[in-house]
Amino acid sequence: MLTNEEKQALIDKAVQAYHKAYAPYSKYSVGAALVADSGKIYDGVNIENAVYPVTICAERVAIFKAVSEGEKSFSTLAVVTKNGGTPCGSCRQVMAEFNPHALVLIANVKGELVGEYRVHELLPSAFGDGDLEEARE
Ligand code: THU
Repeated sequence: MLTNEEKQALIDKAVQAYHKAYAPYSKYSVGAALVADSGKIYDGVNIENAVYPVTICAERVAIFKAVSEGEKSFSTLAVVTKNGGTPCGSCRQVMAEFNPHALVLIANVKGELVGEYRVHELLPSAFGDGDLEEARE
């Protein structure tokens, strides 16, 4: 459970990341920052490509950076956009893989918190490892 000061510090990290986004096509920058279970913070930005579908979202970059460093879960993830946009469906699915109970802080580029959700609220009835186990039985 993060204090309000810790939540703001995480949002501020996502704001810093936001300014490193590579979004020459949409011009819609996104920054993300998460607290992994080790306590370490990982950030991410959206990285676009001239082949548009190859683009990857900021949230998934942050999560994949964390997982590739050996993390298995995260408690809180902050997402920063110009207008306080919420995470896309693919990112919600990836968040659910690593912690359906994680807190997602939605903020704008001024660092103002505009929404706060659990991953399971953003993606109810998510498909998960349990569904695959049932199929294997
Ligand atoms: N984008 C993200 O980084 N995260 C989201 O959850 C929504 C969309 C990026 C992808 C693309 O670079 C731009 O925002 C416009 O879709």
